[in-house]
Amino acid sequence: MYDTDWTVIETAESTFNSTQLHHKETVFTLGNGYLGTRGAFEEGYPGACPATLINGIYDDAPLVTTELANCPDWLALVIMIGGDRFRLDQGDVLSYQRSLDLRRGILNRWVRWRSPAGHIIELTFERFVSLADQHVLALRCQITSVNYAGAIEIHTSLNGYPDNQGLMHWESLNQMGRGYAIGLHVRSRHSKHEVGMAAQLSVVGVEQLETRAIAFQGFPTLVTQFEMQVGQSVTLEKLVTVFTSRDNRVPFDAALDKLNHLPGYAILLASHITAWAKVWEINDVVIEGDPTAQLAIRYNLFQLLSAAPRHDDRVSIPAKTLSGFAYRGHIFWDTEIFLLPCLNLTQPALARNLLTYRYHSLPGARRKAQTQGYEGAMYAWESAETGDEVTPTWVPGPDGKGLVRIWCGDIELHINTDIAYAIWHYWHVTGDDAWMRMYGAEIILDTAVFWGSRAEWNPSHQRFEIRNVIGPDEYHEQVDNNAFTNRMVQWHLQIAFETLEWLRQVDPAHAATLEQQLDLTGDRLQHWRDMIRHLWVPTDLVTGLIEQFEGFFAREDIDLAEYEPRTRSMQAILGIEGAKERQVLKQADVIMLLYMLRDGVFGDGAVHYDRQILQTNWDYYVPRTDHTYGSSLGPPVHAILACEMGKPDEAYEHFMRSVLVDLADVRGNAAEGIHAASTGGVWQAVVFGFGGVRLTKSGPVATPHLPTHWTRLHFKLIWQGQPYEFDLRPARVPFTVPNTQPGRLPIQGVIFDLDGVLTDTSEFHYLGWKRLADEENLPFDRTANEALRGVSRRDSLLRLLNGRSVSEDELQEMMTRKNQYYLELIRTITPDHLLPGVNQLLTELNAVGIRVALGSASKNAREVIERLGIAHHIQAIADGYSVAKSKPAPDVFLYAAQQLDLAPGHCIVVEDAASGIEAALSAGMWAIGLGPNERVGKAHLVLPNLTDVHWEMLLQQLSDAVRRTAIELSLQQLVQNRR
Ligand code: BGC
Repeated sequence: MYDTDWTVIETAESTFNSTQLHHKETVFTLGNGYLGTRGAFEEGYPGACPATLINGIYDDAPLVTTELANCPDWLALVIMIGGDRFRLDQGDVLSYQRSLDLRRGILNRWVRWRSPAGHIIELTFERFVSLADQHVLALRCQITSVNYAGAIEIHTSLNGYPDNQGLMHWESLNQMGRGYAIGLHVRSRHSKHEVGMAAQLSVVGVEQLETRAIAFQGFPTLVTQFEMQVGQSVTLEKLVTVFTSRDNRVPFDAALDKLNHLPGYAILLASHITAWAKVWEINDVVIEGDPTAQLAIRYNLFQLLSAAPRHDDRVSIPAKTLSGFAYRGHIFWDTEIFLLPCLNLTQPALARNLLTYRYHSLPGARRKAQTQGYEGAMYAWESAETGDEVTPTWVPGPDGKGLVRIWCGDIELHINTDIAYAIWHYWHVTGDDAWMRMYGAEIILDTAVFWGSRAEWNPSHQRFEIRNVIGPDEYHEQVDNNAFTNRMVQWHLQIAFETLEWLRQVDPAHAATLEQQLDLTGDRLQHWRDMIRHLWVPTDLVTGLIEQFEGFFAREDIDLAEYEPRTRSMQAILGIEGAKERQVLKQADVIMLLYMLRDGVFGDGAVHYDRQILQTNWDYYVPRTDHTYGSSLGPPVHAILACEMGKPDEAYEHFMRSVLVDLADVRGNAAEGIHAASTGGVWQAVVFGFGGVRLTKSGPVATPHLPTHWTRLHFKLIWQGQPYEFDLRPARVPFTVPNTQPGRLPIQGVIFDLDGVLTDTSEFHYLGWKRLADEENLPFDRTANEALRGVSRRDSLLRLLNGRSVSEDELQEMMTRKNQYYLELIRTITPDHLLPGVNQLLTELNAVGIRVALGSASKNAREVIERLGIAHHIQAIADGYSVAKSKPAPDVFLYAAQQLDLAPGHCIVVEDAASGIEAALSAGMWAIGLGPNERVGKAHLVLPNLTDVHWEMLLQQLSDAVRRTAIELSLQQLVQNRR
């Protein structure tokens, strides 16, 4: 396969080869959220697996309960040349290329073909599934004769006999054929969903044309004949419309009616291209320096965005999107945990649709809880139309022998917190209070009710436990106290409290209704509190090593290297029981937990798990994980955390394994459909991993860890309705951890605030504001001045005005006036105004090669440092002109670090204002606060000022302080878990 950065290309060498047929059908899938059509060939082949899956059109099926029914095939187009049917496996393929244009959502094929009779023609196919109008599908074929003169016959059909790997779901209700149009009306046998499809054919470039409709039962067909001359080109355009009884009362009539009113092919194509352009405007990710990664990330996004329902909130994204039969179109946690983060941060309206699907499936979740004897809502591990559990209970065993019991539908419970987690993330990212109030809160609370009824009290250990579950690692079933599940439940109950508290404030009436409906009595809430405190998460308090589940460490250990090279999963090699008995993981489990509760994921800046705990658990679990043939959900998560841990090569390996899973068929199972979770996982790997994006209170910030050969990474995010653009480039000095002494932080730069740190111009500011305040009759004194530390000029003035209404012009004039007074005063600054210790410290920093920057909100910063005589010590200046947002936004410090070519984690900020400390922390930097604890106590280290402060001593003190805090935090965490 040849590729460009927007086009996936298949050339003759890999053309028509039956082993690749199904893989390529998956790769060339087109979709628009309403339906997906696999990239099967129009002319059809024995053994081919064409499929059009319409979201929500499920029908009953043996063993698997229900599945998306393969809908009538709209592609069928047969071309007969002088009696020979065009097909790639007969005659000679003289040249061939197929390509998927990701930017425009178009699939093309060019073929030069010699028929068995020696007639040579060229065929150009083009196909799209309209993103602009989800009920419209289209294909075009241009036929050019190279050496043939004679009759051509075209059969255009709607094939009402599609099957799901042998199972037929449809009965025919009606069909029609008239003029240039055909139509088909079918109904699924059990669920009674109806599908209406209509098609018309236009032929451009021939004068005499003969067309008749043939009413083959369930297979309406148009037969068209014309004569061709050598060198002549003829174009066929097949337009198709489709409706279902889910979206229209009379889908057959709707399809025919729509067909009658369709504009031409070119117009439909143009609006389709425009719709994709609009999507890419926000969703494109640019990677420079790595063409494979560039194409592959776009391919993954294309498939993700092609699968997201746009106009329907009663469906979700199946684990294989709408592109294949595996997992039968069922919905897993893949949507909430792997796909949603991308949509939350780029297409919030689509994210909302997906979460609303979970709201509509609450009744199913309640039925499941009740059937199993629990309270509240217990979401299905595999969900389809109604939200009832549809995980198969038995499936054929390995090599088709016997049946294997599948326990996931009974006990893979973590889906309940995964959904709550996704809602929480959506809410934080979008600020969509209305949705949270009407839908999200109820889900979070009723799933919490379930947990309250599911956990058991263990009196001998005085703790709550959750027994007999499956965690994310499905190699181990029926285990007790899975750490992921228990810790997430604890978190879930905590946010249930926060949700209820919030709801009581913003909508007391609705809160009261829910409290009554869900029976949120005082006793129940007290029970939740007890569970939060006493739910057991198996953890070694000394090392921080978390045991995946109770007794995991007692299982037989394994060295995966001994099984290499291999082409099968460890479960396939060891057998189901063999894998269970060993410490081998199908996918991230403890590591998944550390990812989901990582620092900064909800913009709250809270430290959930620190680096040391991550390292300890990483070292234990990563070597025991089946990265290559276990679950495809694992590698993107490992990629992200490897970035965080400063292991770019390891991160890249996991990333490529994931981003190429379908394009390069890395696991050998792409034929079964797109790995949906992986498409969203790789987006997270790029944005949260390589881009290092963390969601701070003031918006997303990036601390990139680009692979060494990436020269640029560009993407956009939408946070609380505002667009954020990231254009990340590698540091000229690479962001590697410098050699440091053991126990010392890897610091390469120090960023100083100006006022109150290097000099004290607050007196000048005070005098400037005072003069203005007196002139304007505004009360102002030294105490009021104290509160202006670190506050921008505009905000300071607004505080002075204290609500007095002034026009923008007046505001500007006053700011200018104050600034003039201040400028007059700072002209008197000399090196004598440097605060004690500053000169000495700057000189030391320069001597040891630590880079120095200024990070100040002041617009006069340059002039001040010139006058102080320290400009030569400072390599970069970030001031009031450099960034739009002032502290506590991290922008000014991030800008300074960028100017120094340093990663934020390698910089110290020295600040005297609370807002500056907050900015430093949200930038991911180390903060030293100067002044009283009440003001700068959140810093990693607090000092009175810089008098007698020497670099070596400072670095040591800071490193010690950081280590102490980390230990305290992890101990608190551990103790809390233990309690
Ligand atoms: C994984 C699950 C996943 C499912 C669907 C399984 O193999 O273990 O975590 O949800 O596939 O993708």
